[in-house]
Formats: sequence, structure tokens, C-alpha cells
Amino acid sequence: MTMRKPIRKAVFPVAGLGTRFLPATKSIPKEMLPIIDRPLIQYAVDEAREAGIEQMIFVTGRGKTAIIDHFDVAFELEATMRDRAKALEILEPTRLAPGNLVAVRQQVPLGLGHAIWCARAIVGDEPFAIFLPDELMIGEPGCMKQMVDAYNRVGGNLISVLEVPHEEVSSYGVIAPGKRDGDLTEVKGLVEKPKADEAPSNLIISGRYILQPEVMQVLETQSKGAGGEIQLTDAMARMLGQQPFHAVTFAGKRYDCGSKTGFVEATLALALAREDMADDVRAMATRLLAQ
Ligand code: G1P
Repeated sequence: MTMRKPIRKAVFPVAGLGTRFLPATKSIPKEMLPIIDRPLIQYAVDEAREAGIEQMIFVTGRGKTAIIDHFDVAFELEATMRDRAKALEILEPTRLAPGNLVAVRQQVPLGLGHAIWCARAIVGDEPFAIFLPDELMIGEPGCMKQMVDAYNRVGGNLISVLEVPHEEVSSYGVIAPGKRDGDLTEVKGLVEKPKADEAPSNLIISGRYILQPEVMQVLETQSKGAGGEIQLTDAMARMLGQQPFHAVTFAGKRYDCGSKTGFVEATLALALAREDMADDVRAMATRLLAQ
């Protein structure tokens, strides 16, 4: 078996303005909105760590400092908690060692492809992961762990996909599928936000990627696509045929936390899955539904 370069770095594009959640996101980043007691961004970082990824690269913008603070050591908070003999384990997953927390700025909102390109100097010449934190992926193992396992089998580039009702495809990147073998499907084509009647399938890109570093050179010359933005999907499409490209069908549940109803669904589902809350939440939901 050929040795594959391990996936050690992940890029989190978090520069978006979060206008769909205003006014909640006027002064806090939307990635800091909590699903129960963890901000959205932490679910993504935890998923990355579970997959063996060490370095988290946040592509941020103005007003996004709270994300970086969240993964720093909170010296005063921790000292106070220690004085009051409060357990600090709850903060353990929020600490990233200094070299493992990197922030770069996307100074102008030119699209997802441009955001990823902003991280090129930190990514360097290794394959890397991308997480879109709006997409909350819950599974055992997590989505990225499943993808890293697939990467260790086939190498190259991988994206996670899932099926959506056909009328929803135009909100997403869509693949033209080739041969399928278990959880792996060959990617033959990629198109960003196609019209429903022009979409090659109803398999959409669901916000997790493992890409080879060459994508950065492709992005360098990428012209604007759907919505007038530099699209990652268009850059990946140009790599087809030159490098292996597979889609991984995630065995787990996905919540679209970029929408308000998706956010509520995620909150309810995760609460119902927690031992410390499930009984109370079930009783409460039943009571509310009976009204
Ligand atoms: C982005 C990607 C798209 C993907 C989607 C998943 O779109 O460009 O390919 O399917 O995330 O949520 P956006 O939601 O930024 O419009």
C-alpha cells in the first residue's frame, strides 16, 4: 500500500456575515451561536480532532475575534474557577495549543473558493480538510473520521455528499456520480447551484472536503461563478481527470444550521440524544405539541 500524507490541517471558512440570523449575529459571529451548550464552531473542531487533525486554520473577517478567543486559554476564567474549586474539564476541548490555532483574514467577501485560497500559505504543500461549520454532521464515527478512513484507502480528493429532494439542489454544489462502491462514489462532474432541471443528480456536497494542495493553484486563476463568487466547486471541477476524486456518503445525520428551522431541528435532536436532558425535553415537546 502506498503511504499517504496524513491529514493534519483543517480550514474553517468563518468570515461570513451571518445575515440570515440577524439580529442575533449583529455583534457575535454566527459560528458562536450554541446548539445547547456548545457553539456551532466547536462541533466542527471536535469533529476535526476526532479525525486526527491537529492544526485548525480559521479564515475570519472583521468582528470574528470571539471565535479565536473561544479556542484560547481563558486565564482569568480558569483562575477564578480554580479558586472556587470548579472542575475545568468542560473547557478542555476549547483549548488549542498556540501552533494549532491559526487565523487568517479574508479581507473581501469574494466567495468560498477565495476564502480557502486565503489559507494557502498555512496549508502549504499537504493535503488538507475543509469544514463548513453551518453543516452540523453527527455520526459515530464523525463525518471527517469516515472521510479520513476513505482517504487512507483511495487517496486523492474527497467530498462528503448526501441526497436531498430534487427541488432543493439549486442551493448546493451537486455531483455527477460515476461508479459506486460501498460508501465511495466516483465523481465525474461538479456544478455549483445548478437549476433543478439541469442538475446532474440530487447528490449534494455537504460541507466536508479533503483536498490536495494543488487546489490552491487552481483557485489562483479561478474566475467568478454562481452568484458572482469564486466557487470552490468550480476549482474542484477543473481538477477532475487529473487527480482521483471520490464522494463519501456519510453514515450519520446532517443538520443544516445555516437555516433557522435546521438550527431548531439540531437543537431538539441533540437535546433528545442527551441523557441529562432527554426525558425533560421529550415531556416538554409532547406538552407543546398537544397545545
Ligand atoms: C457551499 C458550497 C456548496 C455546498 C454548500 C453546503 O454553498 O459552495 O457547494 O453544497 O456550501 O452547505 P453556500 O451554502 O456557501 O452557498
